[in-house]
Amino acid sequence: MDWGMRNRIAQLIQPDGHCFFMPIDHGYFQGPTKRLEKPDETVKPLLPYCDALFVTRGILRTCIDPTSSKPIILRVSGGTSLAGKDLAHEGITTSVREAIRLNVAAVGISIFVGSEYEHETLLNLANLVNDCEECGIPVMAVTAVGRELEKREDRYLAMCCRIAAELGARVVKTYWCKDFEKVTTGCPVPVVMAGGPKCKTELEVFEFVYDGMQKGAIGVNLGRNVWQDKHPVAMAKALRAIIHEGATPQGAQELYNITKNSK
Ligand code: 5RP
Repeated sequence: MDWGMRNRIAQLIQPDGHCFFMPIDHGYFQGPTKRLEKPDETVKPLLPYCDALFVTRGILRTCIDPTSSKPIILRVSGGTSLAGKDLAHEGITTSVREAIRLNVAAVGISIFVGSEYEHETLLNLANLVNDCEECGIPVMAVTAVGRELEKREDRYLAMCCRIAAELGARVVKTYWCKDFEKVTTGCPVPVVMAGGPKCKTELEVFEFVYDGMQKGAIGVNLGRNVWQDKHPVAMAKALRAIIHEGATPQGAQELYNITKNSK
């Protein structure tokens, strides 16, 4: 692997082999998502706890301090909205030249396996990998399900992750599910977990993140369950403890309680 590629991956995956990515890209199809109306205000107190931000170029330029050294994963697919016909109909929105200009550590793209646009989104991934590998930029594939949240089960997610890896993704982001080891076992590149819509309790989040890490995930790309929580900093700290310090769900809950009650 060339120096540039290795250097970028090392910015994202920490020396312990784990990572805590924080997505704030939701506006690219949802508009001003709850608690992400002003991304700069939402993300500022959370930056010390995450290892990288997943963001579009528009929010990067307008809301993130360019003197910050936080690594950036640039969302480069889109072209659909919640108001439109089909969330799966994504194309490439951002060029590799732009990714280089923005000095990003990686780019991220969604694939929609099993959808009407499976073929297009898989070729988008393959073409992006062709262009990015030439420049030493890792591609993170996002196994997206659009509105079909019920698709999040092991056989489907294992297939999506494997296909993403076969097409050249360096990291795959997918949903946690029961029997998550079936997803990680069949995927030869690192897997990170997305959160999905906000869970009912913090403990639920700690439990699935812990379980996924035990079953082979290297970390998370978790957004709403952090910054839509009543105590986002406490949540970020507690998740960091699971990801980088081996905390149990109960340990994370204790840390969350202590942090939320401290001034
Ligand atoms: C949207 C995305 C988000 O980055 C992803 O959904 C992770 O965020 P959350 O934890 O809020 O689900 O890729 O397509």
